[in-house]
Amino acid sequence: MPLATGGEASYVDLDAAASTPALPGVVSAVEELLPWYASVHRGAGIKSRLATSAYEDAREAILSFCRDGSWLDSHVAVICRNTTEAINHLAYRLRLSKDDVVLTTVVEHHANLLPWQRAASCRFIECERDGTFSLEAAQAALHASPKPKLFALTGASNVTGWLPPVDDLIAIAHEQKVPVLVDGAQLAPHRPLPVEADFLAFSGHKMYAPFGAGALIGPRKAFEDGDPFLAGGGAVDLVDLNEVEWSAPPEREEAGTPNVMGAVALHAAIKDLQQVGWDAISAHEQAMSKLLRSSLASIPGVRVLGPGSDVTTLGVATFTVEGSHHGLVAARLSAEWGIGVRHGCFCAHPYLLRLLGVGQAELEAYRADIRRGVHSTMPGAVRASASLGTSEAEISRLVEAVGVIASGKDAPLDYHQDQATGDFWPVSAEAGWLEAGRGAGHSCSRG
Ligand SMILES: Cc1ncc(COP(=O)(O)O)c(C=O)c1O
Repeated sequence: MPLATGGEASYVDLDAAASTPALPGVVSAVEELLPWYASVHRGAGIKSRLATSAYEDAREAILSFCRDGSWLDSHVAVICRNTTEAINHLAYRLRLSKDDVVLTTVVEHHANLLPWQRAASCRFIECERDGTFSLEAAQAALHASPKPKLFALTGASNVTGWLPPVDDLIAIAHEQKVPVLVDGAQLAPHRPLPVEADFLAFSGHKMYAPFGAGALIGPRKAFEDGDPFLAGGGAVDLVDLNEVEWSAPPEREEAGTPNVMGAVALHAAIKDLQQVGWDAISAHEQAMSKLLRSSLASIPGVRVLGPGSDVTTLGVATFTVEGSHHGLVAARLSAEWGIGVRHGCFCAHPYLLRLLGVGQAELEAYRADIRRGVHSTMPGAVRASASLGTSEAEISRLVEAVGVIASGKDAPLDYHQDQATGDFWPVSAEAGWLEAGRGAGHSCSRG
């Protein structure tokens, strides 16, 4: 890729926690199906039959990915767009009211926070300064009155990579007869999903299947009565102008034309991940995580957020560089070294503000800025996240680049900050870097 300083560099993708590239098996499966593409559950022609069969095979594979074959009869996999849609779906389905309490944590991504805040009243498990919380804190929150209707918990943090002790947390919730939803968006590509969870949600694009499908898994009986989240064709057996007979789940939950390409991609990614095997996946990730976090933490002026080296995390390091705006660090990594990372608050504002130690008065000042359209003051951090394909050499390149930025040496280019988005942009005439060529609304740090 072209650098803003002139010359070229091979691109280093350290943004796997946001989205992952398609694995070769995923590309092949999609290419194989494309000539046969047709509507699912909506045609008698051979193409529709093939597409329907591929879609239903994917559904079975998704269920088996969550818990061998033993959920095939009792549970359903609702194929939807992503984790956000899956959790909104469940929040609608549970028929909660503001009198109901959903227990969740301040560690959550907004996808596992906002749907619950809208549908019910939330009780939060607070985190410590290192971004973790204890089983005791969860236990106390589970025992508080009124009893929660659900415990909505992340399987792994997209900010610190922390892996809460999900199995133990589910066990203590079940002792209180509280069902548990695990947000598996970050966990699914890295570890087996917790088999005792009552509901699971995850996204294909974070597990090497970037074709727009995700899944909500839960007991069939949770979806058997009442109207579904989405109303429309494909979810009904009989409609007249006054009454509707909804189909049985999972079809009842999948109104609209299903995303067969996404489902087939997710199926292929599951096969590929299973072929690589969890042992190999987690060994590679542990090596990347150690290197990433310890190398960055050893740079003077760099602070890696989250737990220390004694705690296992995913291959994720979220960090700040003293004296440098997070947006500038990310822009410089991209423009001068060809390294792609994410910056901002990672759709987990409550968690990040706690990790950064931002107090209420400061928060109110940011709120006032945002209300007048200024995003440039928003605090944040930089996140580097590794995938299955990340190499030690790529991490070394990041560490070297962050070292240069943290040293305080002047950048070889000027950077301009857009007040509306908060993003920085190099002042460069190199191909691909002309600020004039950047479309309006192209912020890279939303949410
Ligand atoms: C932990 C976690 N939960 C939920 C989500 C939302 O996933 P999606 O954007 O695919 O809906 C993300 C995305 O970053 C995430 O990291």
